[in-house]
Amino acid sequence: MPPVLTPEKPKAAARFQQLVASDKRYKILEVHIKKFQHRQDALIEVLHKAQELFGYLENDVLRYVAAQLKLPTSRVYGVATFYHYFTLKPQGEHTCVVCLGTACYVKGANHILAAIAERTHIKPGETTPDNKLSLLTARCIGACGIAPAVVYDGKVAPKQTPADTLTRINDWI
Ligand code: FES
Repeated sequence: MPPVLTPEKPKAAARFQQLVASDKRYKILEVHIKKFQHRQDALIEVLHKAQELFGYLENDVLRYVAAQLKLPTSRVYGVATFYHYFTLKPQGEHTCVVCLGTACYVKGANHILAAIAERTHIKPGETTPDNKLSLLTARCIGACGIAPAVVYDGKVAPKQTPADTLTRINDWI
């Protein structure tokens, strides 16, 4: 069942401002959207960038994109569900997004990914058979100063090591 998107609330603009202020990934997405001058025909490119940043397209991201491009949320959702490339919701109870951007990669993000793969036997884009954990990757989430960064259930954690990540996911699986 696809997630139900509720209509935009009057406070949506304030909420988006809050998201942009608290999560650098929205800021990067905003810059990207500006690069396309908020053009509605840039929707697919914008969704690509969003998935690259967040690992998947959660409801807040879809709503944000819709607001920025002045498109109905239903249209954005329709496009995101039409293309198999886009992932709307990881199946797992928890998500772990490993940033594989250059700064994180040179600081060992690949070792983090390898440790997770060894522990869970899943690859990026997959979910453990018990649906506890979905593993995703992203490309530069805007936190290069604290590389390597990993996003656990939507929260960015700084300077992660394979041991840090295993401690976190061992609590989940
Ligand atoms: S490369 Fe990972 S946050 Fe920039």
